[in-house]
Amino acid sequence: MKKILSVFLMFLMILTLMTGCGNNNTTDNSNKDTENNEKIKMVTNAEFPPFEYFEGENIVGVDVEIAKEIAKDLGKELEVEHIDFSSVVPSVQTGKADFAAAGITITPERLEEVDFSIPYVESIQHVIYIKGQEINSLDELKGKKIGVQLGTTGDISIADNINLEDGGLYNSGAEVVQYKSPLEAAQDLIAGRIDVVVIDKLPAEEIVKNNGDKIESKILGDISESYGIAVKKGDKELLESINKTLERLISEGKIEEYIANHSE
Ligand code: ARG
Repeated sequence: MKKILSVFLMFLMILTLMTGCGNNNTTDNSNKDTENNEKIKMVTNAEFPPFEYFEGENIVGVDVEIAKEIAKDLGKELEVEHIDFSSVVPSVQTGKADFAAAGITITPERLEEVDFSIPYVESIQHVIYIKGQEINSLDELKGKKIGVQLGTTGDISIADNINLEDGGLYNSGAEVVQYKSPLEAAQDLIAGRIDVVVIDKLPAEEIVKNNGDKIESKILGDISESYGIAVKKGDKELLESINKTLERLISEGKIEEYIANHSE
C-alpha cells in the first residue's frame, strides 16, 4: 500500500511539475501574444537602393531606418516584408500591413486608395542608358525599348507619353518593357535586351554606381515627385505618429544622413 501511495505521490509530483511547465508555457504564450500585439508591420519592395535593398537576407535602407524610428516612437516591434511594388499600396489598403515605405510617390490616384504622410524626400525621374548613347529628352526615347518597374511612376509616365497622339512617343515604335524588379531591368540594359531604364533619381544613381563604367544616368524631362509613407485610409492615429517621427527626423537632418549612409 505504501509503495502504491509513494508511486502515486511521485506521479502527482511529476504531474504538478508538468502542469507547472504548462503554466510557464501559457505565460510564455501570453507574452508572445502581447508581443504580437506590439508588432507593427511594414511592406516594401527591397529592390530600390538606397531606400530599400537586400543585404544578405536582411532588408536595409533609408526607408527601413525611418520605419525603425516610427516603430520606436510607437513602442512597437518592427516587422518588414518584401513584396512586389505593385502590391505595396493594395497591401495597406486591405489591412495586410500597417504601413508601406517604399519610396512611394504621392500621386492623386494613390491618394484615392491610401492616406499619405507628409513628404519626406523629393525625387525626379532619371533615364539610365549605355555610356555613349546619351538620352537628353523624352523625345529621344522615340523608337526605344524602355525598361520600367511595373506600377511605378516611371512606368505610368512613359505609358502616358506613349499614348499621347500629338507628339510624345506615339507611333514612334517605342516599346515599354515592364519588370518586377528595376535591378533586373538594369541587367537587361547591360545585356542589350532593352535600350534604357526609366527610374527615380537616387536608385538610378545607385544602379549606375554598382555597374562599373558601363552605364550612365541623367534627369529625364521634368517629372518631379515627393515620397510619402502610406497607411490605410482613415488610420489617423498611426498617420499622426508617423508624421511626428518624420518631422523629427527631417529637423534632425537624419534623412539626409540615412541617404548618405546607404549611398556609399
Ligand atoms: N517612386 C516611384 C513610385 O512611387 C518608384 C518607387 C519604387 N519603389 C520600390 N521600392 N521599388 O512609383
